[in-house]
Amino acid sequence: MNIYQRTEEIDPIIEKLKSQNKTIGFVPTMGALHQGHLSLIRKAIGQNDVAVVSIFVNPTQFNNQEDLKKYPRTLERDLELLKTVSNEIIVYAPSVKAIYGDDVSSGSFQFDGLEFEMEGKFRQGHFDGVGTIIKRLFEILKPDNAYLGKKDFQQLRIIQKLVENYHIPVNIIGCDIYREKDGLAMSSRNERLNPEHRKAASFIYKTLKSAKKQFGTKSANKVTEWVINQFAKHELLELEYFIIADEDTLKTVKRKSKSMSYRAFIAVYADGIRLIDNLVLN
Ligand code: PAF
Repeated sequence: MNIYQRTEEIDPIIEKLKSQNKTIGFVPTMGALHQGHLSLIRKAIGQNDVAVVSIFVNPTQFNNQEDLKKYPRTLERDLELLKTVSNEIIVYAPSVKAIYGDDVSSGSFQFDGLEFEMEGKFRQGHFDGVGTIIKRLFEILKPDNAYLGKKDFQQLRIIQKLVENYHIPVNIIGCDIYREKDGLAMSSRNERLNPEHRKAASFIYKTLKSAKKQFGTKSANKVTEWVINQFAKHELLELEYFIIADEDTLKTVKRKSKSMSYRAFIAVYADGIRLIDNLVLN
């Protein structure tokens, strides 16, 4: 396994791959890897000459300092897990200083309004942080293809918009959500859940599935009301938002139209741990 922590170390490796016309498949991560990440990495390996994985807990995308402090950092375990997939993976695990120097701040981005919906409303500055780190990683690693999970569907749309608006020559590939047996979407945050809340968290996907069924015959408003009521009655989970939105603009659906693709989005707190999920509706 080749691990690089300094940009000066990985630069010549990337230059050499580029000069050999090798395709680079890139999976950006914040570490605490799980099977969901590994599925993206396997895809990157299968579709490219070389797979590069970054492991970097990006401080500028956290609006909550406590959340940043508690974010799991498990580099040794991550590397062991990567070895189970392949020894050929190139790992880029820079320090905050290597990425930001002395100025740990984000740039300001324009994502055609996608940034003001859902996560944008509840996590101020989050997508400027994501835009900053992804643009920087794309500059350093020069991937042909980048693989991102649909669990963070808004992030996926934002990164698609980033490459479009800022003319970055990277193909963005959205990958299906990987779920635990009980349906909970895999996330690095799941490991912070205590057993009681972990069990309760399967209610999120169950509710999304019921919402999908109901959306066949009921309005988006009616389904939303129903979901809000389900969580109001729940003793362990606290709903932050549930919306049914157009997949393309991420705007809340007012009236159904056959030409649109809809997706339900949800954010829930379980014992202070924030979990998000989504499900395509048609
Ligand atoms: O989804 C994540 O893990 C992060 O937001 C990403 C894309 C690695 C950027 O820091």
